[in-house]
Amino acid sequence: MTVIKNAIPDAFKKNSSESAADAENHADSLHGLTAVERPEFRGDVSYGALKLSSRYMLSPLAGFTTLSFRRIVRNIGGVGLATTDLVNCRALLSDNERTLQMIETHAEDQPFAVQIFGSETQYMVEAAQYLENRGVATIDINMGCPVNRIAGAGSGAGMMCKTDSTISMVQKIVESVKIPVSVKMRLGWDDNNITAPFFASEFEKVGVCAIAIHGRTREQGFSGTVSRPGIRKVVEAVENIPVVGNGDVRNVADAATMIRETGCHAVSIGRAALANPWIFRQLEEWERTGSYSPAGTFEERLQLMVQQYSYIEERHGADRAIIIFRKMAHWYLKGMQIRKKLRGEFQFIKTRDEFDATLERIRQEGPVGGNRSGVLSDCHIPVPAGPVSKW
Ligand SMILES: Cc1cc2nc3c(=O)[nH]c(=O)nc-3n(C[C@H](O)[C@H](O)[C@H](O)COP(=O)(O)O)c2cc1C
Repeated sequence: MTVIKNAIPDAFKKNSSESAADAENHADSLHGLTAVERPEFRGDVSYGALKLSSRYMLSPLAGFTTLSFRRIVRNIGGVGLATTDLVNCRALLSDNERTLQMIETHAEDQPFAVQIFGSETQYMVEAAQYLENRGVATIDINMGCPVNRIAGAGSGAGMMCKTDSTISMVQKIVESVKIPVSVKMRLGWDDNNITAPFFASEFEKVGVCAIAIHGRTREQGFSGTVSRPGIRKVVEAVENIPVVGNGDVRNVADAATMIRETGCHAVSIGRAALANPWIFRQLEEWERTGSYSPAGTFEERLQLMVQQYSYIEERHGADRAIIIFRKMAHWYLKGMQIRKKLRGEFQFIKTRDEFDATLERIRQEGPVGGNRSGVLSDCHIPVPAGPVSKW
């Protein structure tokens, strides 16, 4: 068993306004973190010829895992691969402006994957070729999106309802490009149709480079828990390609459980990365050394917000940046336990000066309860609720 021995992070030390009690709280929270035994790790992860620097990946969260957020987690470190939100292949081919923005990247965001969805082979193939020509490192096919607009139209999780045409489509996409193509899917449509192991094996035969598997069925939506035995069956179904286990990994201990119980080669993390953008660095450090540094402090979290806002401002200008950043800011501030009224005020700011002034007030007031240790509560990202058939 290893114990985390890190010193108090720099940002905490540098801020002279922090009290000694705050520093003590922080030190306590470090001692509170339990050591996590390492499982047996598989070898390094490669997507075809593309060698990844880490087995920990950012799972796509439409509307959240934007370029500005990807740059944040990349700069912190530990991310092997990040993927765009799902991109409509037809919108991409028609040069739709918003879609083109979705595939924008940056030198700090490499290697990155673009995830595409669609139900017509011809457009999926053309979209893949288009992306290859733009220098994208790898393409991911979305075969897991549960929402009706997508699954009901035969793409996303809807692809799991057809076998021959789905395999044929995936094969044609793989054969049309030289860059590696992966597939992200769910366990199956429902409990009576657990088809992911079958598809994984067939996809490997047609040249897919990796499978990412969210351990829920389409019918489950985001309810219940992830089935690790279900993910294990997918790992067992393939011969050589890496399988990325996904779902409900919120911290290092969860990742250890995912790897130990499923035998997966890699782990992808979605919602927990918003609550803790340091999670990839923690995982990579833990795999290497057996211990890991704590997540950032309250102060460091505020610095990340300013940084992310600056990335958006750099690209879209101040006026639009404020509007674009509101949604992220809402979830960040909630996770940081900022008083509701102050959070509400943030949503009405209109200028960069107001942004700076409101953040300064947030900095001074701190979280409800006063703990600035940076151990954030779960960031409850909205997921559709109610029967999945109505999504
Ligand atoms: C708001 C939201 C948006 C998502 N968007 C996508 C998407 O664009 N493509 C995709 O493959 N999965 C998407 N997912 C699923 C996640 O990538 C992931 O499989 C799921 O959230 C389980 O992992 P987690 O528990 O680590 O979040 C989304 C999930 C959420 C909550």
